[in-house]
Amino acid sequence: MLRIAVLVSGGGTNLQAIIDSIADGRIKDTQIVKVISNKADAYALKRAEENGIASEAVVRKDFTDKEAFHEALIRAVDEAQPDLVVLAGFLVVLPLKMIEKYRGRIINIHPSLIPSFCGNGFYGLKVHEAALARGVKVTGATVHFVDEGTDTGPIIAQKAVEVQEGDTAEILQKRVMEQAEWIILPGVINDIACGKIQLK
Ligand code: GRF
Repeated sequence: MLRIAVLVSGGGTNLQAIIDSIADGRIKDTQIVKVISNKADAYALKRAEENGIASEAVVRKDFTDKEAFHEALIRAVDEAQPDLVVLAGFLVVLPLKMIEKYRGRIINIHPSLIPSFCGNGFYGLKVHEAALARGVKVTGATVHFVDEGTDTGPIIAQKAVEVQEGDTAEILQKRVMEQAEWIILPGVINDIACGKIQLK
């Protein structure tokens, strides 16, 4: 049984896609052992609660300094004893100690076809605004391993999505989520659970 901890900051639609995929068998032999958020009011935490999944908020302002916050975040993950850590819209830069400790066992979903529209400052709607501003005809989503950089780790899976006439950033974001993110993230997790993708 693949034990996964999912780190979230917002609405949790990618978390929901994982929950649903486990329930309908698209993801085999996997258990979400914990959901962790840096935002106490993240709707993703409510999704965890509604599905009987352990959850915890680790909030920066509750700690005197960044080091204490990082230690608490690492402790929250360690306590879950995950085989795989999934960043699903998690907007905090992971502490180096955590990347070293879980190297090769942390994956992230990014809402573009890396190396386009990624790196510092490219998150959420900003990614789709940049894609529209550049005038690309195709965008999409990427699942990659997490390393010390921002969206720089080895790419695992990508799925392309057409940009349509009249798209706003919000419309494009929704299409990328529905047609790419919510498909390739569960797909990669299943491939890891089934041994098609080997973790280090
Ligand atoms: C998604 O667009 C994801 O690609 C990005 O952040 C957003 C999170 O959405 N990393 P949600 O919290 O999973 O709904």
